[in-house]
Amino acid sequence: MCGIVGYIGDKNAQPILLNALKRLEYRGYDSCGIGIVADKNHKINLRKAQGKIQNLSNFLKDHPLGSGSLGISHTRWATHGKPTKVNAHPHFDSSKKFLIVHNGIIENYQEIKDFLKEKGYKFLSETDSEVIAHLISFLYRGNLLQAVQESVRKLRGSFALGVISSDHPDRLIAARLGSPLIIGIGKKENFIASDVPAILDKTRKIVYLKDGEIAEMTRKGVSIFDLAGKKVSYKIHQVSLKLDSVQKEGFAHFMLKEIYEQPKVLSRMFASRIKGSKIVLDGLSLKDGDLQKIKDIVIVACGTAYHAGLVGKYVIEDLARIPVLIDVSSEFRYRTPIIDKKTLVIAISQSGETADTLAAVREARAKGAKVISICNVVGSSLARESDGVLYTHAGPEIGVASTKAYTAQLGMLYLFAVKLGMVKKKLKPSKVKDIVRGLKKVPNAVSQILKLKTKIAKVAKANSHFGCFLFLGRNINFPSALEGALKLKEISYIPAEGYAAGEMKHGPIALIDEYRAVVCIVPRSDTYEKMISNIQEIRARKGKIIAIASEGDDVIKQHANNVIYIPSIYKMLTPIVAVVPLQLIAYYISVARGNDVDQPRNLAKSVTVE
Ligand code: F6R
Repeated sequence: MCGIVGYIGDKNAQPILLNALKRLEYRGYDSCGIGIVADKNHKINLRKAQGKIQNLSNFLKDHPLGSGSLGISHTRWATHGKPTKVNAHPHFDSSKKFLIVHNGIIENYQEIKDFLKEKGYKFLSETDSEVIAHLISFLYRGNLLQAVQESVRKLRGSFALGVISSDHPDRLIAARLGSPLIIGIGKKENFIASDVPAILDKTRKIVYLKDGEIAEMTRKGVSIFDLAGKKVSYKIHQVSLKLDSVQKEGFAHFMLKEIYEQPKVLSRMFASRIKGSKIVLDGLSLKDGDLQKIKDIVIVACGTAYHAGLVGKYVIEDLARIPVLIDVSSEFRYRTPIIDKKTLVIAISQSGETADTLAAVREARAKGAKVISICNVVGSSLARESDGVLYTHAGPEIGVASTKAYTAQLGMLYLFAVKLGMVKKKLKPSKVKDIVRGLKKVPNAVSQILKLKTKIAKVAKANSHFGCFLFLGRNINFPSALEGALKLKEISYIPAEGYAAGEMKHGPIALIDEYRAVVCIVPRSDTYEKMISNIQEIRARKGKIIAIASEGDDVIKQHANNVIYIPSIYKMLTPIVAVVPLQLIAYYISVARGNDVDQPRNLAKSVTVE
């Protein structure tokens, strides 16, 4: 979603801000802008553009901002008002003395807007954000920090803010209430950003601003205050993230790079978490005694992370014999879930900043449940708000379509299920051994599939003209069907539906004719024959079949138009392997259609508003 970058230092801010904004492109946006306080006369100059940052760069060539070493910039993902230049951030107040960038939503903006309009403030945009600039102007009595503090106390919603003023060419103010914002500490320069990769080439000294904190930054230092205005202490983290982990390293797209990183991510996870026949879940923060007391589990997540949770439900129920309920976070938070102290809530999120998942976790904790999260981003809001956190350590995921984060979430769910099954004494040591042996084979199985890249690309291209896809799976690969369909629709824009194959006759089969492609996930399993029957029913209606099948299955060739083979592994583990060809099919169809694979239209990498 929206990206914020701010700079105060001794260098020209424009190239620094533009470069950092580019590193936030992956979050998804539809317009952008930059505002700088001129070193000479302290006037604030502002430039905005609709569409890509390149449009802004081109515009700046003809309309330069002039030199200035204090500035804020923004990539906007439209919520209130269309993605136009007028609605793009930063936003001025009427006197053009104050300039703000905002990420999040101001829920009481209409009320504040009506009040300020009556006082004579003129609004130019349709955004909720513009009220902040006018409100600061209204409350300003010569002290910028105080005016921002007072404004923040009046705003409702969740947001991150950057503020500059022509009256204060030596100040950059930042505030956080619910949306991520970090501070980068440099030498004679300081930064704010929505995410660490934006400023990784400038500094590795990072302060994670907490909810309700407001920072006042000069070229020399940073002071942080709480909402009441009391100075608070803060910790500077030394971030060890590698710069190349946020670069494409020769791959055509981040998504492809991240698909290729999966064997490494998984083998690193299993090497660090499996010690002999023991599963080591550092960060879980629940002792064996606590795990024994759990009577049920609720999983909350969104999108791809939700699909990982669905697989988790099958696995945990099978291995630990505990009932698992799963909800998309946005539904969980608005119903009246039956949970108590004996319920364990597992929140799954790559970013750890997904607004609905955070709200679901708060709801669960308020009801007394223990919450653990499976999360990729270290120090994220979700990690901080959970009782325990199992980090997937998959490295930064930049492509909007989630790939390596998904398989890492699956890996962690398998490990957790085995651990719980052992603690609950539901697993025989021989079964633990089989699963552990199976898990250790997964990275290599994924590598084998990646070697089929050319073949998968060919199959994808040959089917890229279809206007509708169905994905079918059964049992533990039903979630794989959902995930395959989600990947495809996200980046190819082709309508795609995932179904449990057993549901076909209850409606979806009406869709089948020669213009539909049906991807069937049909590895050797207890439901193999049932899947073959479904495939025959589709063929009888002229649907085109792409089968994801187990190596050595020659029978499937008679039924499918295309077959992609995956290595045979322990049956329960097939989802972690079967999803890889699905990711590649989506990727190559998107490429064949000429789409923007890494930044698909309308999507944001982390959904920080409801
Ligand atoms: C799909 C995708 C989204 C995310 C969802 C949750 O490729 O990326 O569906 O999975 O927005 O995001 P996180 O995992 O960050 O909570």
